[in-house]
Amino acid sequence: MATALTKQATKSVSLQGTDLHLAFGPNQVLRGVDITVDAGKTTTVIGPSGSGKSTLLRVLNRLHEPHRGDIVVDGRSVLKDNPDELRQRIGMVFQHFNLFPHRTVAENIALGPRKLRGLSKDAARELAIKQLDAVGLAAKADSRPGNLSGGQQQRVAIARALAMEPQVMFFDEATSALDPELVKGVLALMADLASGGMSMIVVTHEMGFARTVSDNVVFMDHGTVIESGTPEKLFDAPESERLQQFLSQVL
Ligand SMILES: Nc1ncnc2c1ncn2[C@@H]1O[C@H](COP(=O)(O)OP(=O)(O)OP(=O)(O)O)[C@@H](O)[C@H]1O
Ligand SMILES: [Mg+2]
Repeated sequence: MATALTKQATKSVSLQGTDLHLAFGPNQVLRGVDITVDAGKTTTVIGPSGSGKSTLLRVLNRLHEPHRGDIVVDGRSVLKDNPDELRQRIGMVFQHFNLFPHRTVAENIALGPRKLRGLSKDAARELAIKQLDAVGLAAKADSRPGNLSGGQQQRVAIARALAMEPQVMFFDEATSALDPELVKGVLALMADLASGGMSMIVVTHEMGFARTVSDNVVFMDHGTVIESGTPEKLFDAPESERLQQFLSQVL
């Protein structure tokens, strides 16, 4: 599994959000957030429920337009580009896999490359099998998603995102909906992807993953970044009382 994932078709790039603001009506959800992921590195976002982590990811790929601030990819602001262009460069994996139940696993993966990258049916199928092989599920190509375990379905969702040859990957609590015994396999796959040089922003409650896989950790609360830095700094020497309190609850 590891070796297949390390051969990446596209180069990873850096991504930076600066001074990002977003409100839903009177609710100020992001209040000047700065976040960076360097090319080929992993930034993890931690923080309590409702702190704005998912919203941050949605702003960074412009599913919501920031009210203020900038988004810079590979050194260039992308706010004036067509948002679809940006979304094609970023692969997203959510808590719920959102696979089409009536299509086979391979069809689920081939769909994006056919529709958005213009691949032929055969080329898209070949790519789907290759990506499935990389996540250890080639044997499931012609199964329906409903016949796979939650962990396998999440690996299919990761393969589907990778088939779009993204330059950055976002994960939003990708393991939160899984049974405990299935979490490890998905985290191992994400760690493989990180060590293979993919740029990743990972929102997670898995503090072990945040500590061992991240290059950089961002702690958010109430729409702001309270502290950020290396995992050693945040986990072993948290400066703010808020982060100390959060860690005492989750560790
Ligand atoms: N589409 C929306 N419309 C209105 N309010 C929203 C919307 N999306 C999020 N919010 C609000 O924004 C705030 C932050 O939500 P968000 O989902 O980003 O938090 P989170 O840190 O991801 O929490 P969790 O850990 O529970 O997933 C919450 O107050 C939420 O109610
Ligand atoms: Mg969330």
